[in-house]
Amino acid sequence: MSNKLPVLRLENLTKMFGDVKAVDNVNLDIYEGEIITLLGPSGCGKSTTLRSIAGLEKVDGGEIYFRTINSETLQPISDLAVRKRDMAMVFQSYALWPHMTVRKNVEFGLTIGKRRVTKAERESRVVNALKMVYADELIDRKPSELSGGQQQRIAVARAIVVNPAILLLDEPFSNLDAKLRIETRSEIRALIKEIGVTAIFVTHDQSEALSISDRIAIMNKGRIEQLGSPLDIWQKPENSFVGEFIGEANLIECHVKETTNGSAVLCLLGTSDCFKTNQTKEIWPNETAQVILRPQVLEISQNIDSSHNSIHGRVIESMFMGTLEYVVIELTNKKNITIHRKIIADDPLKKGEEVSIIIDPSQAYAYGGKYKN
Ligand SMILES: Nc1ncnc2c1ncn2[C@@H]1O[C@H](COP(=O)(O)OP(=O)(O)O)[C@@H](O)[C@H]1O
Ligand SMILES: [Mg+2]
Repeated sequence: MSNKLPVLRLENLTKMFGDVKAVDNVNLDIYEGEIITLLGPSGCGKSTTLRSIAGLEKVDGGEIYFRTINSETLQPISDLAVRKRDMAMVFQSYALWPHMTVRKNVEFGLTIGKRRVTKAERESRVVNALKMVYADELIDRKPSELSGGQQQRIAVARAIVVNPAILLLDEPFSNLDAKLRIETRSEIRALIKEIGVTAIFVTHDQSEALSISDRIAIMNKGRIEQLGSPLDIWQKPENSFVGEFIGEANLIECHVKETTNGSAVLCLLGTSDCFKTNQTKEIWPNETAQVILRPQVLEISQNIDSSHNSIHGRVIESMFMGTLEYVVIELTNKKNITIHRKIIADDPLKKGEEVSIIIDPSQAYAYGGKYKN
């Protein structure tokens, strides 16, 4: 993708609210037809970034560039009014007009400005957009006569009906119940791919981001911490913030005893309980490292020997979770970690039992420096 021109480029984008840097020097290239997600905790600047792209916020620094279809150049658009940007947004609140029918809500964008079309074309595009979100039978209802899920579909129809170059979606599923959220995810991905629109999606829900996106930008405190495919971000977190934010993770602090060619011996802080890893980033001997250990990749051994690459602890709690057992273990540094263990029926763990925790050196991610959150 890197040899192609993006359709949208954010260059050193910065937005302040008083002293708060809501968006801090963000750089991001977005390519035609991709679904890119801004993912991060509440308050990290996702909505402000999206609203800046839409033109709903005036940026304080940097530039937003846009390329119209078939054009070979990116044009700055920071000074362009909202309605002149070839984009459409779906808001978290849906923002449907309560006094208008579904038809009027959806067709509104086709009655004004450059997007204005004839009545006949309007009619067919509205029906078509509603069909695409499986809501054409709702055309004569008012928003108050719709469920949350139906309102959400209408909000999507209203955005796609204008054939925007870029579709912006800010937490569009957050008002749906858990089951509907999951169903709607795959539907919306299929819809976006079918119409081929470029989409920028905002969510704080990692499973939503992982399942919907072509690429994910992980945001923290107004900055992008990592940009990559869902698999990349899951498998190769670039720092401890991403490692802990994505997937389930135990974050433990260790003392770096020694380093050799990308591998290292780490000891639980304040103990001589040590293990090897070969996933290291910017760590130095005698300093502290933050280590991410995923609950799924740790193994429990009831033999307390040191023949394995292991650390040690005591079983605090064990919860049956269907196919897995969630085991909480207190380490020798008194910190707890969680392990997801495949259930071995004739080998139950007892509370207080001493165990070894076997660590795969390629699955223990060690990062130097201070934990950035
Ligand atoms: N209109 C506003 N006025 C003042 N502060 C704001 C405004 N909008 C957002 N912020 C602040 O900017 C930061 C980023 O907010 P936002 O972009 O909404 O985060 P997110 O969408 O990731 O939850 C937060 O600290 C938030 O409080
Ligand atoms: Mg938000």
